Amino acid sequence: MNQKSHSASHEKNLVKSHPCHIAGVGSYVPERVLTNADLEKMVDTSDDWIVSRTGIRERRLAAAGECTSDLAAKAAARAMQDAGVTADQIDLIIVATITPDMIFPSTACLVQQKIGARRAAAFDLEAACSGFIYGLHVGSQFIHTGAYRTVLVIGAEKISSITDWADRNTCVLFGDGAGAAILQSRADAHEILTVSLGADGTKSGLIELPAGGSKCPASPETIAGRMHFLRMDGRETFKNAINVMCQASKDALKHAGIEVGQVGCIIPHQANQRIVDAVSEKLEAKPEQVFLNLQKYGNTSAASVAIALDEAYRGGRIKKDDYVLLVAFGSGLSWGAAVIRW
Ligand code: ACO
Repeated sequence: MNQKSHSASHEKNLVKSHPCHIAGVGSYVPERVLTNADLEKMVDTSDDWIVSRTGIRERRLAAAGECTSDLAAKAAARAMQDAGVTADQIDLIIVATITPDMIFPSTACLVQQKIGARRAAAFDLEAACSGFIYGLHVGSQFIHTGAYRTVLVIGAEKISSITDWADRNTCVLFGDGAGAAILQSRADAHEILTVSLGADGTKSGLIELPAGGSKCPASPETIAGRMHFLRMDGRETFKNAINVMCQASKDALKHAGIEVGQVGCIIPHQANQRIVDAVSEKLEAKPEQVFLNLQKYGNTSAASVAIALDEAYRGGRIKKDDYVLLVAFGSGLSWGAAVIRW
């Protein structure tokens, strides 16, 4: 047997012997609510414009001293409780975020300290709004190989900290929050059947935070130029989002061997209702298959799919043995879709 065929069959056997399951989910959103009426007092916008163009009615904002790691730790505690897992059992923490507490150390290390998971390795993953699905796939690999028994994946954001509150094009869209999942190989839990990921760095300029990194370090000029806030080409992002979410969904469903009609619950990235409607139409999904909570939270980036998954599950929208399709896109561009048998 040559080396290539040996590794292929070896990998297949490992995947079979250690399937990866979601053993528990949890989420947390901060208390403070910012409504569209509040935004009308801050920028030249209207409730009517925001609702008709995005579907968003309100969003949550973290308190001044509340950081991404605080939101993440609260979501993690709920996921651990749901899975019946203690902090000592966690082998690895992955935090998907574009709003880390600091550039370093990683927010995952700060979460490790806050939840008391002293045994756990910890690192951050940056794939913007696709971060939670990327995190599920990365975390799954440690379970598939048997390297770790328990992995905590969190999507957490304090997007309000990088929002330009003078820019009506972006400030109406985003909100803060966190969602988490515990991964284990556990037959009584919810198996992750397939994940499809992708990226297109040629479109990196569509959504970016220009300054504060090595390319353009902080200076009086970057502050004066408002370059520490998120910037986005909304129209181009909109078009790309529809295409890549459709393709990722089709890929993940194909690999799982199922049709869209067999999916019990579709949980899309909660960016914009019009994007979700267009994706659903192209996939020929029925509106009742799709879970939406963006009206309450707006786009919470890496937390979006994780919060929606937790709410759909706790609200009884996902039944045992249902196929669940997660799908997201974000800055990068990056995208991902996952099929889970609940
Ligand atoms: N209130 C009132 N008017 C507004 C507002 C607002 N909040 N924002 C923009 N407008 C105006 C624009 O200035 C424009 O006016 P003009 O025609 O005089 O120039 C007009 O409304 C229409 O603007 P469009 O950009 O064409 O509006 P569109 O229908 O495309 O909706 C939106 C804009 C909501 C941003 C949409 O393009 C969108 O959702 N894009 C995708 C964004 C997204 O999902 N990003 C996710 C990734 S984020 C991440 O990865 C962190």
